Amino acid sequence: MRIDILTIFPEMFEPVLNESIVKRARLKKIVEFHIHDLRDYTSDKHRKVDDRPFGGGSGMVMRVEPIFNCLKTIKCKEGKPRVILLTPQGKRLNQGKVKKLSKFSHIALICGHYEGVDERVRCNLADEEVSIGDYVLTGGELPAMVLIDAVVRLMPGVLGNKNSLNFESFEGNLLEYPHYTRPYSFRKMDVPDILISGDHNKIEAWRRVQALKRTKARRPDLLR
Ligand code: ADE
Repeated sequence: MRIDILTIFPEMFEPVLNESIVKRARLKKIVEFHIHDLRDYTSDKHRKVDDRPFGGGSGMVMRVEPIFNCLKTIKCKEGKPRVILLTPQGKRLNQGKVKKLSKFSHIALICGHYEGVDERVRCNLADEEVSIGDYVLTGGELPAMVLIDAVVRLMPGVLGNKNSLNFESFEGNLLEYPHYTRPYSFRKMDVPDILISGDHNKIEAWRRVQALKRTKARRPDLLR
């Protein structure tokens, strides 16, 4: 997958995208990143990426032109990327959405800022708008990194054990069952005996019950 990032803070990305599993995916050439500084796509001498809102009011609005100019340059062989605007007004990101996004061969992420972006970006350039939750951050950069991290780990060949994806939280709309590792006993807190029984059918049934209980207690909305 190719991921283009349109941002006014390009330097925020490399430290995060050069660690851990995402770094490994890059080295394996499963994903490549193209980070664009929107100031490079302005045409005025001050390299202005924002301006005052028409109609007045406080705050600044991100200009449509640099975003349009940048997107124009990033079409590739397969044509246009899936263009996603990160904004608190977008549809909330969840694991289902992450899975769908992981199937695209090329996505472009626009990191919004200031009071918002010119409505013409939303209406004419973005294919969809995504929010990572009901809170407002200073910009779309961290949300873009959250989306990237969640999407990259689903790409074939990125995680070692495919099974671990089948049993993780949100798979089948359930939260994950509890995990334990050695030691068996830590400060009088013991591992449930069933897990050392060696009876794999029983262990599987126990895990399913635990996942259901946990989901019911913490996220009943998922069961509905
Ligand atoms: N930009 C600012 N806050 C955001 C959020 N919660 N999700 C996506 N983009 C944002």
